[in-house]
Amino acid sequence: MNEDVTRTSLTPGAILLTGKVALITGGGAGIGRGIAMAFAEFGADVALLDIDTQAAETVATLVRAKGGRALVITADVTDRAAVRAGITRVVAEFGTLDILVNNAGGTRPVPLLEMTDKQTDRRIDLNLTSLFTTTQAAAQAMIAGGQGGAIINIASIEGQRGAPLHSIYAAAKAGMINLTRTAALELAAHNIRVNCIAPDCVITEVMARNAPESLTPAFREQHASYFPLNRAGNLDDCAGTAVFLASPMSSYVTGVTINVDGGTYASSGWTKDKNGKYRLFAKDI
Ligand SMILES: NC(=O)c1ccc[n+]([C@@H]2O[C@H](COP(=O)([O-])OP(=O)(O)OC[C@H]3O[C@@H](n4cnc5c(N)ncnc54)[C@H](O)[C@@H]3O)[C@@H](O)[C@H]2O)c1
Repeated sequence: MNEDVTRTSLTPGAILLTGKVALITGGGAGIGRGIAMAFAEFGADVALLDIDTQAAETVATLVRAKGGRALVITADVTDRAAVRAGITRVVAEFGTLDILVNNAGGTRPVPLLEMTDKQTDRRIDLNLTSLFTTTQAAAQAMIAGGQGGAIINIASIEGQRGAPLHSIYAAAKAGMINLTRTAALELAAHNIRVNCIAPDCVITEVMARNAPESLTPAFREQHASYFPLNRAGNLDDCAGTAVFLASPMSSYVTGVTINVDGGTYASSGWTKDKNGKYRLFAKDI
């Protein structure tokens, strides 16, 4: 038998990010903050590009406490010149760029019939157009470094389904999911992998502040009926998937979207009653 066919060489070290430099947009809070902390824990140096300097500085301090280098870049991801300058700065200060996480994004609910042009443009700029600049500039830096790279886009489960009151956001996230595929194909020749994470509801500090009811026992009970895995997502759920996609552990994975949703895309309309029994409409099965 051919030796190559039987060879297995995977070790736990394949999940480590030691010596890697990562740039995380929106790394000052929420999912981006969780990814920054996990990347630092797994050995990476972390640059945080965020509009909120103070929040990013707080995360930078925590990254340094874990032994990693950290850099804060104050910029809006929709500002093309600032993003390009930020990526140039990461390479100048850290010597390379290996990982980009396109995480900054978000929305607020507005009915389609009431959406203004300004609201529409802002949602598309923030959740889709900004990715063209970050992805292009980061890929150019990775190609110049000659070591390949990993790009991870944080989309949403709303990019996989219709989302009342979130029409433009959902469309932009669907665009992000498809951009992931095309970018993966075009960048594969440079050994740059491009993948996507699609979370459902992830409880963040912003959500806890703006919607404290999301932490109440009554809300948790609702989560148990909605999420097949019985709970909303947390920062580690997304960070764990991001570490996998950034690391050599996923070296043959590109162009895919991983739903980090506790099973909600699979359940697609099925909910559970208080005994954990699945229902479609109000009927038992
Ligand atoms: N939290 C969820 O339930 C959830 C679910 C699905 C998808 N997502 C996606 O995950 C990503 C992160 O969401 P989150 O809930 O953690 O966000 P968050 O609001 O908790 O944090 C967002 C961070 O991004 C920064 N930021 C916002 N706009 C920016 C801009 N224009 N330029 C640079 N930085 C900016 C903020 O200052 C903040 O530090 C978003 O793309 C969002 O669409 C979140």
